[in-house]
Amino acid sequence: MTAPVTRRLGDAPPPELLDPAERMSVDELRALQLERLQWTLRHAYENVPHYRASFDAAGVHPQDCRELSDLAKFPTTSKADLRDNYPFGMFAVPQEQVRRVHASSGTTGRPTVVGYTERDIDTWATVMARSIRAAGGRPGHKVHNAYGYGLFTGGLGAHYGIEKLGATAIPVSGGMTPRQVQLIQDFRPEIIMLTPSYMLTIVDEFEKQGIDPRSSSLQVGIFGAEPWTEQMRLEIEERMDMHAVDIYGLSEVMGPGVSQECVETKDGLHIWEDHFYPEVVDPFGDDPGSPLPDGEEGELLFTSLTKQALPIIRYRTRDLTRLLPGTARPGMRRMQKITGRSDDMIILRGVNLFPTQVEEIVLRTAGLSPHFQLVLSTEGRMDALTVRVEARQETPAERRLDAARELITAVKETVGVTVGCDVVDPETLERSVGKLQRLRDLRDR
Ligand code: DLL
Repeated sequence: MTAPVTRRLGDAPPPELLDPAERMSVDELRALQLERLQWTLRHAYENVPHYRASFDAAGVHPQDCRELSDLAKFPTTSKADLRDNYPFGMFAVPQEQVRRVHASSGTTGRPTVVGYTERDIDTWATVMARSIRAAGGRPGHKVHNAYGYGLFTGGLGAHYGIEKLGATAIPVSGGMTPRQVQLIQDFRPEIIMLTPSYMLTIVDEFEKQGIDPRSSSLQVGIFGAEPWTEQMRLEIEERMDMHAVDIYGLSEVMGPGVSQECVETKDGLHIWEDHFYPEVVDPFGDDPGSPLPDGEEGELLFTSLTKQALPIIRYRTRDLTRLLPGTARPGMRRMQKITGRSDDMIILRGVNLFPTQVEEIVLRTAGLSPHFQLVLSTEGRMDALTVRVEARQETPAERRLDAARELITAVKETVGVTVGCDVVDPETLERSVGKLQRLRDLRDR
């Protein structure tokens, strides 16, 4: 399946529209980063008891950071550190300077709470505006924002960036799918922002209403908050006739807008390195040690460079990727599309498998729709994994068995493990409105 995107808005922004940092050379950027990193380490040490204690325990002091590589001497921060200091213990400014909080739910226990000063909110809006511009957005565009509004950072994070860019925000939030289609048809936005899995639900809804999704006004979709694959890009670009680009971020580091794919290259996500300093480390060590050289795959860490309310030092994202040199923004490194989270990796009879690997295969298999779930169960004393996937509407019943066989063979050949496959009727699996949960763990404990 090839997807010739015929829409406009695939061009690079003219240089005069870029932020000064987007035009910096690598050397200029490194100098700026060092200055900002030294400030951040001091700010964290002086104002957050957790950092003072963890730096002291590791025998390091902010003054020990004389060059960027010295950062590796400092301890990492994990989600557990934020939970242990719930709700506001990691904040580095007095309460009256905190203008907003957000929280990420996580799957268990207390949420992780993050805070922003007025300047932090402005920084966030700036990097979000930059992201939307890199995706093809311009002042005057209408942006349909279907990321959830509320404690989740997606909705409000995108919203402030849309306004900062000089575009028009349509704050729809997630849910009420038929109305999403109606608003797209009536307001005629150029851009849509939401999770890729929810985009698929909306595409299906267009078809259900008898409207050709390729005829909509949408020209660019900015998709993130969950992993998605190149194959998914082709699926969405083909069915919507629009560009599909990737946006990444996480609450602890800022929210959406930490890195963004440029529409003219679609070759991974440029990290806005004037605000977020990336490292990649060995994902499975307790002590991640020195960063891996650029180009090697591992766990992504981030250190904030300008954040006031919640400075974050070497935050272990659990996301797996590699750092690559800049292209569309030569000074800023790219991160490859996220393969998955180390927590989402399924170890099936000793073989590592990521949901994204199955996504690639599902989407390559004729007759199968992009809607699938991974079900882990116990068979005898062994773990078993079944891919439950919906047939496409137009798939004839007799094709299903062959599609299942092809999928099983492809997983065996590419991943090296045997899985089961149930091809089920269209519209039978649960749909997601926000972040998608692919895995259902039904194993005996
Ligand atoms: O999901 C922020 C966000 C909102 C990003 C909207 C993009 C768009 P959290 O809820 O804190 O924040 O979840 C962060 O989501 O560590 C990744 O595991 C995952 N994630 C976010 N963006 C991507 C992406 C928001 N583009 C966690 N690709 C991160 C893969 C992503 N995973």
